[in-house]
Amino acid sequence: MLNKDIQDAINKQITAEIYSAHLYYSMAAYFESLSLKGFSHWLRVQALEEMTHVHKFFSYVNDRGGRVLMSAIDGPPTEWQSPLAAFEQVLEHEISVTGLVNQILDLALEKRDHATANFMQWFIAEQVEEEASADEAVQKLKLVDKTEGGLFLLDQEMDKRTFILPPDLQGVF
Ligand code: FEO
Repeated sequence: MLNKDIQDAINKQITAEIYSAHLYYSMAAYFESLSLKGFSHWLRVQALEEMTHVHKFFSYVNDRGGRVLMSAIDGPPTEWQSPLAAFEQVLEHEISVTGLVNQILDLALEKRDHATANFMQWFIAEQVEEEASADEAVQKLKLVDKTEGGLFLLDQEMDKRTFILPPDLQGVF
């Protein structure tokens, strides 16, 4: 049976992951409005990944005999000063999500809930990747800022991102 405090923390995390998808779809719409469809594609793939995170947490709560309780999702921003400002927010947001993931692991260790501690390891590793890919985009946007046509070329590169469904979600999505 899932400890109540851990259940509450994971339910909060489900809300945070859905907000992440919400935020990234909003950013995708911003990039569409700038005719930067590659950036939009990258963010839509990111939003789909966030929903796979939701799915993992949702299944885990149920697998442990807990109860998923959904709550309201805040409205995301809809405009940014520049493509760089948007991706700086992606990075900032992912750093905050890493903090939440770490808090759940800390709580699991405090409660001696080894199953949750083990489950959270996947997210600990995932957040390293999430921060790295956001930071890479920020660094590239800083570079292209000084290059004629650079944003157009980077947009084409961002368009190549593919959505990879985790093996445990095959047949679910
Ligand atoms: Fe689900 Fe981007 O963290």
